[in-house]
Amino acid sequence: MFKEDTLKNEVILITGGGSGLGLSMAKKFAELGADIAICGRTEKKLKDATEVLKEHGAKVRYYACDVREYEAVGEMFEAIIKDFGKITGLVNNAAGNFLSASEDLSPGGFKAIVDIVLHGSFNCTHHFGNHLIKQKEKGNILNIVTTYAEDAGSAFVLPSACSKAGVLAMTRSLAYEWGTYGIRVNAIAPGPFPTEGAWTRLFPTKKFEKKYIERIPAARYGEREELANLAAFLMSDMAPYITGETVTIDGGEKLSGGQFNFIDSVMSRGKLKMAFKMLKMKG
Ligand code: HXC
Ligand code: NAP
Repeated sequence: MFKEDTLKNEVILITGGGSGLGLSMAKKFAELGADIAICGRTEKKLKDATEVLKEHGAKVRYYACDVREYEAVGEMFEAIIKDFGKITGLVNNAAGNFLSASEDLSPGGFKAIVDIVLHGSFNCTHHFGNHLIKQKEKGNILNIVTTYAEDAGSAFVLPSACSKAGVLAMTRSLAYEWGTYGIRVNAIAPGPFPTEGAWTRLFPTKKFEKKYIERIPAARYGEREELANLAAFLMSDMAPYITGETVTIDGGEKLSGGQFNFIDSVMSRGKLKMAFKMLKMKG
């Protein structure tokens, strides 16, 4: 689908690139010619990921950095620019999440997620944007949000829902404000993509998972390669006129709220069609 040099000459920082979807995007970008910087809090994870990424042909460096720390994030950007000579792309992918009844949340629990997701994305974006504007260079920002960021929010993940909605507002606000500097800002809203980080925190039992998958019209979870391809497209020169956009990739899951969508869970499609015919005859 992509030419091998689609992301040649790009230097992209992927926050939380040591695992899960961040690592899958990093692999794809590396295959397409980009040089890669990844960051996270766990050095061992970053080190292992770096070895994997090198096999995909990229120049790779990892930075042990907590995106919640504004000063530390600034130092990371300085180090990246020193190591690579430049930086052209940022993927705000690092996140935290857990299931909790909202009345049982502690202020510290709410703050932990807002700090990682919303403040962390701001911290990276602010340093990156300032660098590009000062250097008069163009660049790309991609924010990984969730489908519930845009729509109705979601029960039991209140801190994440509030934070991701904030990141979405940041996507649109900056796409307009920084468009004049040649900085594009887009978002991807993934449905469920199995990763250890998400699954260990958000799927308490197998029964819960079975119920979950029944809500997805595509009848399966997303594959990481699918998301990585979308990310590569949005980060590339194939999408120079797309900014402020949020692309949902969820097999149709977020459409499950349609008023009559539930009826084929009441009876089979075949029986439904017969019922529709009877209604037509009556009408
Ligand atoms: C309630 C919790 C909690 C839980 C932590 N806390 N876990 N509260 N339920 N399960 C509270 C603690 O009591 C504490 O508050 C505060 O959160 C901080 O906890 P720490 O353990 O000190 O925080 P920290 O080490 O910073 O860990 C952050 C974390 C952790 C977010 C809590 O889960 C983490 O490191 N996550 C990173 C990876 C991740 O979450 N990946 C999943 C992304 S999936 P008090 O008040 O007691 O001090 C995703 C997808 C969504 O976003 C859509 C899927 C379909
Ligand atoms: P994951 O593997 O747990 O990824 C989260 C990454 O963020 C980890 O590598 C983690 O590493 C890093 N991180 C967390 N806190 C950090 C901090 N303070 N500073 C720096 N790095 C930090 O989970 P994932 O499923 O791949 O999630 C990736 C992104 O996709 C997230 O934005 C998530 O909200 C989004 N998403 C995922 C799904 C899904 O189904 N998987 C669905 C919708 C949206 P350390 O813990 O080592 O720091």
